[in-house]
Amino acid sequence: MSCQHTTLLPWNTFHLDAHAEKVSVVSSVHTLCQLWQESDAKNQPVLLLGEGSNVLFLEDFQGHVIINRIKGIEIHEDKDRWLLHVGAGENWHQLVEHNLVKGIPGLENLALIPGCAGSAPIQNIGAYGIEFNQLCDYVDVVSLKDGMLKRLNADECAFGYRESIFKHQYRYDYAIVAIGLTLPKKWQPILTYGDLARMSPDSVTPQQVFDAVCQMRRSKLPDPAITGNAGSFFKNPVIASEQAEELHRSYPTMPHYPQAAGGTKLAAGWLIDQCALKGTVVGGAMVHLQQALVLINHDRATGADVVALARTVRQRVGEHFNIWLEPEVRFIGSQGELDAVKVIS
Ligand code: FAD
Ligand code: EPU
Repeated sequence: MSCQHTTLLPWNTFHLDAHAEKVSVVSSVHTLCQLWQESDAKNQPVLLLGEGSNVLFLEDFQGHVIINRIKGIEIHEDKDRWLLHVGAGENWHQLVEHNLVKGIPGLENLALIPGCAGSAPIQNIGAYGIEFNQLCDYVDVVSLKDGMLKRLNADECAFGYRESIFKHQYRYDYAIVAIGLTLPKKWQPILTYGDLARMSPDSVTPQQVFDAVCQMRRSKLPDPAITGNAGSFFKNPVIASEQAEELHRSYPTMPHYPQAAGGTKLAAGWLIDQCALKGTVVGGAMVHLQQALVLINHDRATGADVVALARTVRQRVGEHFNIWLEPEVRFIGSQGELDAVKVIS
């Protein structure tokens, strides 16, 4: 399906009414490459989207938005593991539910994360004690110029906190078309985070973990079907451990998470909250009242409103703590992606 000069309202969870020259929904690798090549030949910018739950449109996109709906879930197994091959355009949460129904646990901590399965590796989605890389076997990409398929194993994806090779070497000219997951048949609940720590590892079921995760998420994160948002707007900052220790002395209740790779991760939501920014409004954008790390489309916000609010938040936190937050959300300008840090600096 293709539409000319059309609104992106249904295609971004911030519910921003930006427009694109053309929007196409594709369900095959062949069509994806064909449409991309047609635009490339005309020097028309192309933006690939899954469900638009991690993007912010700053203005109209003067190009072609291609929405990936390449579907299909194949399940294989060996003695110890379930092996799943999942089309990039499958909805992530439906995959989590589908697995639960089929008796294939392992994804329940990542329930209710919006977006497509094929977008999960891009920022290595994570929540409630698990990151995507712990389940990832491989990621299949297509080179859009020539249609060549390539399989990257998990090591080759260079996963990190909200990081992967898909934000760097494979950011342009490639699309993710499928992912492979490995889930051990011997299920071990991961109960390290928040309310999950109160559950008993000996008796808890995957369904109970799923229900608890959904309940925690619903209690603090706005439902994008009702209130426009893109989840955490900023990444949690990782700072030098000495700086974290100094801050901890001044703020003994400050959440802080020492990292195996060095440094200490702080909770950006807590930092923003300490600056009393919950409920701050700029134009139609607002800092969410239940979770300061989430910026919401409170009342017909524009991309410029959200940018101005993000700039205010970054500035206030920076002045207060000398910690300069970086957006997690991807900023999209008229010709393509922009450097989000530069935009709000
Ligand atoms: P999109 O927003 O459509 O795209 C994201 C980026 O990937 C864009 O740059 C796009 O150009 C590119 N892209 C899209 N598809 C492809 C493709 N097939 N090939 C190559 N590039 C592509 N994230 C977490 O990690 N943890 C959370 O707990 C979490 N909670 C959230 C809660 C809410 C309410 C919301 C709104 C968001 C949350 N997010 C969370 C962020 C978001 O859900 C994830 O980043 C998700 O993986 C984005 O998927 P998407 O399909 O919507 O990607
Ligand atoms: N906090 C506050 N005030 C706030 C928000 C948070 O004091 O307004 C404190 C909380 O009390 C807690 C700490 O900050 O002690 C962390 O908060 P929370 O558990 O809500 O998690 P988060 O760090 O804000 C991260 C991810 C989320 C993910 C949750 C659960 C990032 C950027 N965000 O949020 O991912 O769902 O943990 O694992 O890493 C996303 O990426 O879009 C996203 C929603």
